[in-house]
Amino acid sequence: MPQITRRAALTGVVAFAAVATAPRFVSAQAPAEPFKLDPLPYPNNALEPHIDAKTMEIHHDRHHAAYVNNLNTAAKDHSQLANMPLHDMLAKLSELPEAVRTTVRNSGGGHANHTMFWQLMGPGGGKPAGDLAQAIDRDLGGLEKFQNDFNAAGGRVFGSGWVFATVARDGKLAIETKPNQDTPLMDGKRVLLGNDVWEHAYYLLYQNRRPDYLKAWWNVVNWNKVAERYAAAKAGTLTI
Ligand SMILES: [Fe+2]
Repeated sequence: MPQITRRAALTGVVAFAAVATAPRFVSAQAPAEPFKLDPLPYPNNALEPHIDAKTMEIHHDRHHAAYVNNLNTAAKDHSQLANMPLHDMLAKLSELPEAVRTTVRNSGGGHANHTMFWQLMGPGGGKPAGDLAQAIDRDLGGLEKFQNDFNAAGGRVFGSGWVFATVARDGKLAIETKPNQDTPLMDGKRVLLGNDVWEHAYYLLYQNRRPDYLKAWWNVVNWNKVAERYAAAKAGTLTI
């Protein structure tokens, strides 16, 4: 048999063996990938000029995708993760097996934070209204003071992290920050909105000027979505 033909035949045998064993392997591991990366709810360039298309593409398609992949890898050996809602998993980190606790904290937190982040942005902006506007006046001193305090808190995060406005079941709002991919969900709280202050969120356009990014970000907050999250939090149906 000529060399090339024998190699082709061997390759064929390997390929056939892989196909023959694949269905059994997949069924034993099901569900293979319980965590999904939803597409962005708008085109990559929808938030320009405040957030550029390249940043959105890398941020969603690579950074967020990596968190989802890591979580799916952890779920392969710890199938109980596939059956837990993400917000529960994050609220019960101390009850998870030690082998996956750090992965769930970092990648589960990253998955929850980024899913929330994409949802609450959009082109057009707007202003808070109704119930939500009243809560911002009552608890945070009005929109302008809220935005200034939120930006200042985001500016004080050392290294990578997030700045959030949390919402209690009674509708009370508060500002807090978290390092890395931690989230108020880990304390059993709910997030009204949050801004990502990791450098990957802004560096291409703003370089080291995080305060400029924090200020510009308010132009892409979709207040209709924030109002939906506020109503859901008060109804007890807000998850991540
Ligand atoms: Fe991020």
